[in-house]
Amino acid sequence: MTNRSLAILKPDCIRKQLIGNVISHIQKAGFKILGLKMVRLTEDSAKGFYEIHKERPFFNDLIKYMTSGPCVPIVLEKENAVEEFRSLIGATDPAKADEGTIRKLYADNIQENIVHGSDSNENALKEISHFFSRKELLEINGWN
Ligand code: RTP
Ligand code: MG
Repeated sequence: MTNRSLAILKPDCIRKQLIGNVISHIQKAGFKILGLKMVRLTEDSAKGFYEIHKERPFFNDLIKYMTSGPCVPIVLEKENAVEEFRSLIGATDPAKADEGTIRKLYADNIQENIVHGSDSNENALKEISHFFSRKELLEINGWN
């Protein structure tokens, strides 16, 4: 089934001048881009986005990292987008990621791992609405 996933190019991706490389990798893998913007997350917005991790020991560091510079959220569409995108980006820890995955190629460590990918269809829809309004997506939809 064709569905959507939310990718975020994280602040380390932007700092390392890798926006183009990562988007090229994503497009070569057959994902269609339905929405894209550059944003600076506020602390509140980052805490809301990563709410599910609020009890985890790495939560405060994660919020600091995700608010340390701009991010690029991207709405993706493909057959089985969520699973396909998770396999394209590789394991959370780049040291454990498969060869050829985005994190293996570009990420420095388990926190600064270049890119986010939704982990279920349900979360993908919630995450997309964190960054994009229905109106924005309707305006863009159908053009590519
Ligand atoms: P994401 O949600 O960003 O796609 O990453 P993920 O599913 O592979 O990993 P998740 O467990 O959801 O963790 C979210 C993000 O938190 C940071 N993290 N740091 N220091 C640590 O041990 C640690 N563990 C996770 C990473 O930036 C991870 O992507
Ligand atoms: Mg996750």
